[in-house]
Amino acid sequence: MEILYNVVLVLHFIGLASLLGGFLVQMASPQKGVNPAMLHGALTQLVTGVILQGLLESGAVEGGAITWKLATKLLITVAVTVLAFLGRRKTGNQVGFWAAMGGLTMVNVVLAVFWT
Ligand code: HEM
Repeated sequence: MEILYNVVLVLHFIGLASLLGGFLVQMASPQKGVNPAMLHGALTQLVTGVILQGLLESGAVEGGAITWKLATKLLITVAVTVLAFLGRRKTGNQVGFWAAMGGLTMVNVVLAVFWT
């Protein structure tokens, strides 16, 4: 199970790279919005995060889950994913959706690292 956990964790980092990369790449652009990298990154984070949480909480891998931390991250990620779908449906400059998704993603990175 350790190998499965590590593979999913790698995918979790790739999802983070896609989500945050899609956000950062638009920083200097006058037109901002939710690009495919952000949408797919959000979905990847949701799926891989829940699998990681499941593996920890079931005891399949050592380490134990910090339940409140994961619940908070899950809530934020659901919000990010909803924003991604709503933002993709709109056309034109979507700076609000872009900024909210980027900000919430960074909050999740800070929670992941500092909430021990
Ligand atoms: C935008 C969404 C997310 C971001 C940016 C994110 C970011 C991260 C980062 C940077 C790590 C590595 C932390 C470390 O190893 O010190 C991590 C690990 C992890 N994430 Fe996420 N995550 C997100 C969503 C989720 C969700 C929704 C869940 C599950 C509810 C989740 C569960 C986990 C677990 C179980 C780990 C490994 C153990 C830990 O460090 O707590 N993540 N995440």
